[in-house]
Amino acid sequence: MTARRSLITGASSGIGTAVALELATQGHALWITYTGRQEAAAEVAARCLEAGAAEVRVSRLDLRDAASVEALVAEITEAWGDLHVLVNNGGVCPYTAYPDIDLDEWDFVMETNARGTFWLTRAALPLLRAAEGDRSVINVASIAGQVGALATGMHYAASKGAILALTRSFARHLASEGIRVNAVTPGAVDSAITANLTPEARTKLESGIPLGAFGQPEDIAWIIAGLASPRAAFVTGATYDANGGTRID
Ligand SMILES: NC(=O)c1ccc[n+]([C@@H]2O[C@H](COP(=O)([O-])OP(=O)(O)OC[C@H]3O[C@@H](n4cnc5c(N)ncnc54)[C@H](OP(=O)(O)O)[C@@H]3O)[C@@H](O)[C@H]2O)c1
Repeated sequence: MTARRSLITGASSGIGTAVALELATQGHALWITYTGRQEAAAEVAARCLEAGAAEVRVSRLDLRDAASVEALVAEITEAWGDLHVLVNNGGVCPYTAYPDIDLDEWDFVMETNARGTFWLTRAALPLLRAAEGDRSVINVASIAGQVGALATGMHYAASKGAILALTRSFARHLASEGIRVNAVTPGAVDSAITANLTPEARTKLESGIPLGAFGQPEDIAWIIAGLASPRAAFVTGATYDANGGTRID
């Protein structure tokens, strides 16, 4: 049987690495991207092959740059011609307090996280349409997009709220073609992003987590792998929380 083909953005680190490894154990062919950490991405690729990936390709992607997004899609089109799973995970998260957010930083965050997710999903649609069987997009949003900025900047919260709206919009738009679109909304997870927190901010965040500790990238990866599975065939337009109880409706 041919392997399912999956693209994971921002797989050089954190949650993206964990997703790549999880899908590798399921035998997916993987296309992973990095932005600054090329060596780390090469290491992740080697670990994925060891873990059982059918194939691993690595590209640089800057979601803020439409030409970079389009070049990646052109590469995949030439090499594979189709795609079963798109995981929109790559993103940036400055902790700038709101009075200090200037227009350049606002644009940087919105263009990377929100516009990048929109543009890559739009560009990858022909690849998803070309694939046979279950196809889905999983967007990594954040609890900040649901409840507003806790420790992160307001621009980050706004960008993740936009990703949730895009998830629902694409889910409606693509349901008739059988392409599913879902989101995960992690709370605080140990990664390069949260390594930038001050000790005080970390303690404050931790005290707001009823389960008592930050999550790990693997805690998010299995949900993404579940949503990417054909067994989730009836799930679209959904948002899956993983936040240690920080937000309970
Ligand atoms: N950690 C948390 O607490 C948490 C909570 C909620 C949501 N999230 C979301 O989870 C996702 C992954 O974050 P993480 O926690 O795993 O952080 P991370 O370890 O810093 O990983 C971020 C990834 O995004 C990539 N990236 C950075 N700028 C990019 C750009 N312009 N275009 C494309 N990719 C870019 C990075 O690439 P390089 O390293 O190669 O530059 C890296 O692979 C993000 O969308 C984040 O907002 C994280």
